[in-house]
Amino acid sequence: MQDLPGLLGHELRNPLASALTGAMLARDMVDGRDSRAVVLDGVLKDLDCMTSLIDGWLAMASDQQGTQTRVDVEELLTKIGESQRVEVVCAPPAFSVMGNVFLLERAIENLCKNARNGGATKIRIAAQHDGSRVDIHIEDNGRSLDPGDVERIFEVGCSRSGSTGLGLHAVATTVAACRGEVRCVPLSGGTRFTISLPRAELARA
Ligand SMILES: Nc1ncnc2c1ncn2[C@@H]1O[C@H](COP(=O)(O)OP(=O)(O)OP(=O)(O)O)[C@@H](O)[C@H]1O
Ligand SMILES: [Mg+2]
Repeated sequence: MQDLPGLLGHELRNPLASALTGAMLARDMVDGRDSRAVVLDGVLKDLDCMTSLIDGWLAMASDQQGTQTRVDVEELLTKIGESQRVEVVCAPPAFSVMGNVFLLERAIENLCKNARNGGATKIRIAAQHDGSRVDIHIEDNGRSLDPGDVERIFEVGCSRSGSTGLGLHAVATTVAACRGEVRCVPLSGGTRFTISLPRAELARA
């Protein structure tokens, strides 16, 4: 389903652009040594990040591949490993996929967040390729998925957390837009999600 990201993107784009302009104007009024400049710089960074996410959703909703660039897998996962404080293993290093880096980062962060919500104390991200495909495994030691949920886990509203049940749907939509697929496997003590993507070196133009 690609209409939801498109709808959200469309509705959020204008107010976000106006918030960004307002924040930039406010930043121009503040001297760089003023402590308020730090706050405004943080706001501008967050608004920039949101703009990139929304542009990515809109491109995805209209099936454009324009915002897809070559993404170095190790670089992306190292960044996520630092922000999420999780172990990352990339072997061998130096391989890439085609995709929207902001959306892929968000997707993997979503999987880490779910793992924590499921009681995980340890999350491990491991990436490898077999020549043509790149597999990114996100494995945790938290609660195992209910077997009955596995088939419908990527559907909107499938949630046992009392939240929106949108996170995994967004993950699947992002991965599909990168011509990949995501699957999940319940483990005896945890859960493993695998994002499988074509290697950039072999992706269709
Ligand atoms: N790593 C995990 N371990 C255990 N259960 C999980 C894990 N990931 C997902 N789930 C289950 O899948 C459900 C759906 O996840 P999803 O991210 O789509 O929704 P949510 O986290 O409940 O809400 P939202 O992400 O929209 O805030 C979760 O409610 C949870 O029951
Ligand atoms: Mg979630």
